[in-house]
Amino acid sequence: MTTDTKSTGGDVRLTGISKTYGSFTAVHPLELTIPQGSFFALLGASGCGKTTTLRMIAGLEDPTTGTVHLGERDVTDLPPYKRPVNTVFQSYALFPHLSIYENVAFGLRRRGVKSVKKQVGDMLELVQLGDRAQQRPHQLSGGQQQRVAVARALINHPQVLLLDEPLGALDLKLRRQMQLELKRIQTEVGITFVHVTHDQEEAMTMADQVAVMNGGRVEQLGAPADLYENPQTTFVANFLGTSNLIPAEIVEGASEDLVVSAGGGKLRLPAGRCQASTAAGGRLLVGVRPEKISLVHADDAGTIPDGRNRLTGTITASSFIGVSTQYVVDGPAGSGLQVYEQNVERDSRLAPGAEVVLHWNPAHTFGLGADQAIDAGTQKVEDAA
Ligand SMILES: Nc1ncnc2c1ncn2[C@@H]1O[C@H](COP(=O)(O)OP(=O)(O)OP(=O)(O)O)[C@@H](O)[C@H]1O
Ligand SMILES: [Mg+2]
Repeated sequence: MTTDTKSTGGDVRLTGISKTYGSFTAVHPLELTIPQGSFFALLGASGCGKTTTLRMIAGLEDPTTGTVHLGERDVTDLPPYKRPVNTVFQSYALFPHLSIYENVAFGLRRRGVKSVKKQVGDMLELVQLGDRAQQRPHQLSGGQQQRVAVARALINHPQVLLLDEPLGALDLKLRRQMQLELKRIQTEVGITFVHVTHDQEEAMTMADQVAVMNGGRVEQLGAPADLYENPQTTFVANFLGTSNLIPAEIVEGASEDLVVSAGGGKLRLPAGRCQASTAAGGRLLVGVRPEKISLVHADDAGTIPDGRNRLTGTITASSFIGVSTQYVVDGPAGSGLQVYEQNVERDSRLAPGAEVVLHWNPAHTFGLGADQAIDAGTQKVEDAA
């Protein structure tokens, strides 16, 4: 036999999948391959189509167009219960009258499995709740209940576990703990997790790959560090962390380093990091992350090494947050520029009203097309904590 039974690397493959409700398109035709055994996050603001996409993978929603493959198998026409997939929702809906043990055993019992003890025991160990087996859900914390929900789904040995904002009901601190916990569980069981969240920090902490969704489309897909360092759109630059975006015009194009003018000064950036046209005269948005920037008092401007990008400005606000101090600076190139300085040696002159110079390595600068909204993706839903 020459049949290749090995996975082609795509455990979940969405081909041209879309969903419309009447004249409204919730998900535009989407091509997405989620590698087997990966922790994959669908990240985006409320209403961007994350749940709809997840429900189409689960079979809970019929796609308007396109197909869903799990491994080699086309499951587009299979009902949810025939798909090798389990879903954990935000409201984990444990059975309140059953013990933790019986909640986890539920899927096995329903399939008529007689001896469940070993499997349930293993699952409770995996989620570190072995000592809670005989308790009821209401005796557990939110995070513990969520772990029961994960154990209850994993005991069915799904090929893929879908998680829709599973940590949404938890407070921030517990959320952070559970993120690490879920990541550990995924690494231990080695199956594909597809995790939906609107929390960019959560997606970056947990996922190997993140698909950033905006308005029913995947705007960019990549490893967290790659998305963070090389955003291709203003939405991704602003939605993942914070970016300073400065309108500029190219004065010298077509070389390895572009020279642009912004607010009367000149900045350099690698042409390879520019998503816009690099021809002289073209307009673009110059981007730099707040932690890449150093701040000195204007009196010390002479100490800045040659070859750094620099901008002048006035501090309008500063907030001390322990590990770092965050400054807001207004200047000719832009207002509301964000700078994060580690609290190593603090300069007491760096206070609101001070004249300062911002400087950074030109290699840390990226360029984006000027034809997009500069503030796309800035309206984040913050955690209520
Ligand atoms: N049954 C439906 N009928 C009409 N419109 C719907 C239906 N289900 C979802 N939508 C719309 O589709 C869009 C995407 O919804 P979806 O639930 O996928 O968003 P989401 O990204 O999961 O958002 P959230 O973070 O708020 O959960 C929304 O604008 C929503 O109002
Ligand atoms: Mg949703």
